[in-house]
Amino acid sequence: MTTAYLNGRFLPLEEARISPLDRGFLFADGVYEVIPAYAGKLFRLDEHLQRLENSLSAIEITNPLSRSAWTALFNQLILTNGGGNIYIYLQVTRGAAAKRDHAFPEPALTPTVFAMTGQIATPAADMPDTATGVAAITLDDIRWSRCDIKSVALLANVLLRQQATKEGAAEAILIRNGFATEGSASNFFMVKNGVIMTPPKSHLILPGITRDLVVELAHQHGMAMIEQEVTESALRGADEIWLSSSTKEVVPVVRLNGCSIGAGKPGPLWRQMARHYVDYKRQLCGL
Ligand code: PDD
Repeated sequence: MTTAYLNGRFLPLEEARISPLDRGFLFADGVYEVIPAYAGKLFRLDEHLQRLENSLSAIEITNPLSRSAWTALFNQLILTNGGGNIYIYLQVTRGAAAKRDHAFPEPALTPTVFAMTGQIATPAADMPDTATGVAAITLDDIRWSRCDIKSVALLANVLLRQQATKEGAAEAILIRNGFATEGSASNFFMVKNGVIMTPPKSHLILPGITRDLVVELAHQHGMAMIEQEVTESALRGADEIWLSSSTKEVVPVVRLNGCSIGAGKPGPLWRQMARHYVDYKRQLCGL
């Protein structure tokens, strides 16, 4: 049975209850984080807590807990759920007011804090020689212009991912004004002539923790990496495309809109990055 955390209490997930007046439910007025743990050890926790702080501050919610309190909470949740390779899903909303009103209630409400865990499936990077890669499609980026906030308002992302699923693809890579931004729940990289590219951080993409790590690892290992805008046509002509996220790590895309990317199988630079990623994970988490 999964143990969850809700507003100061650890309890069985199926017993967790929130009010229908919670502003997360009524307005999607809240933010979230997804933090992986390997062998029970939290991965890039400081970076996730900094992004949480940024998201909360962008929507004017005071961070309800200190860094050490968040860390203790997550470690307790990992322990009660048996450790191993799991992720923490954390959601903080503005709280539940007495009535529905768009403007922030005065005085400020007590934020609702909810956390649970889920299993991480074996990522492709753990098996670089046998991974087959995934298919993706491109779709118009119909989201708002503050995609840097990790908001729980994910309806556009949900519809975009569903369209990809319907078309037999694992992800939709989103196009805004002719440029690729990110996936519906991932960042992306492309490789052309040995150079890895990913869009620079802006309000139009989520500053992915995995994205930053991939950029860092590329620099550390002398792989050519530039942060620059990628046009849709450049993406279509890529030698390799990768997706990155906390639960999937770095995944090779081998088909885009039904056409092969490169040789139609995971490319050599992806295999190289996968090895660096797994080495880093092993070192950090003592695997
Ligand atoms: N999604 N871009 C979007 C829109 C995302 O939703 C995510 C992650 C990322 C990658 O960020 P990170 O590397 O920090 O996980 C980029 C999470 C995993 C989710 O919604 O489940």
